[in-house]
Amino acid sequence: MNTQKTLKNINPYLAGKSKITGKKGVIKLSSNESPFGPSANVLAKIKTISNSTNRYPESGSLKLKDSISKRYNLNKNNIFCANGSDEILGLICQLYLTKGDEVIIPKNSFLMYEIYSKINNAKVINSKTLDYRVDTKNILKNINKKTKIIFIANPNNPTGLYIDKFDLDSFIKKIPKRIIIVLDAAYAEYLNNHDYENGMKYVRDNNNVIVTRTFSKIYGLASLRLGWCYANLEIIALLDKIRGPFNVNSIAQEAGAIAILEKGIEKKLIAHNEKWLKKIKTEFIKLPVTVYDSQANFIFIKLVKGVSQQKKLNKHLLSHSIIIRTLDNYNMSDCIRVTIGTEKENKLLIKSFKSFFKNEK
Ligand SMILES: Cc1ncc(COP(=O)(O)O)c(C=O)c1O
Repeated sequence: MNTQKTLKNINPYLAGKSKITGKKGVIKLSSNESPFGPSANVLAKIKTISNSTNRYPESGSLKLKDSISKRYNLNKNNIFCANGSDEILGLICQLYLTKGDEVIIPKNSFLMYEIYSKINNAKVINSKTLDYRVDTKNILKNINKKTKIIFIANPNNPTGLYIDKFDLDSFIKKIPKRIIIVLDAAYAEYLNNHDYENGMKYVRDNNNVIVTRTFSKIYGLASLRLGWCYANLEIIALLDKIRGPFNVNSIAQEAGAIAILEKGIEKKLIAHNEKWLKKIKTEFIKLPVTVYDSQANFIFIKLVKGVSQQKKLNKHLLSHSIIIRTLDNYNMSDCIRVTIGTEKENKLLIKSFKSFFKNEK
């Protein structure tokens, strides 16, 4: 049971800043959202469906599951849809955790893993990272009889770094089958790297692997809250038992069912991201900052002069109407994360960074 005492030790999730008082036309690069809206087809559908919000949504997200299974050639019975992948992370913790259990989360990972684990009274063990990279060997070292779940974001938020498929292959083989492995692939669409594996194959070969995905990033549907996971039938049945009866609203279901099949649009969005990810990195590398090789729709940066420089840079960018993500609540106060925006936004971002570091010298 949750007690107020348990909750006292949990810091609520702080979302990326979205407004600057007194400023209009703000450039929001703080939450890894798509800078583009949903496609024209998706928008048209959203408008039509919004006329029928007096009705409850279809309870099993069946049409959406059809689209997902078609797109990725998956058995639709192995798919579970939810109110954001966030909801799935919470449900997994609710299903598998109780007091005395341990969860392994690599240091510098997405914060919700820790929050949901603690809400469910588990002890969080942070495995060590190597210059922010997940160290699978260190995760293995931390496994004991109490370990129930291992969470891995691949690529990771907030670093954008990923575990390559060779490392992941041998890691998954070494994990006892009684431990649930959550592979969070929220940013999978953005990666074309030959050594990246989104995790679907591990679900086919292992009953203890759950892959989570989201519509909040490439599909530009963050506000509708839509996520899904792929797992073995037993896990799906358990998730179905504990979810709310109408956990995915009808607008999200219909929008997602269209968006996931628009491969051509997705390809263009990926190309935009690839182009600007490379361009921004190239420009930032010329500056006195440490630029990590992030592979998602954001870039992770460390400020060589630490937290005081982070604060100064953030202030400077805010004065140029640019909101980035400072990582204080990740205990990484000397680092920032910047989402790839539109062409115009990216150009302004580069310009503002350059003007800041010109005065820093
Ligand atoms: C790694 C990771 N997992 C999950 C989520 C949550 O996604 P959703 O919007 O589907 O809840 C995010 C959101 O930023 C994320 O970065």
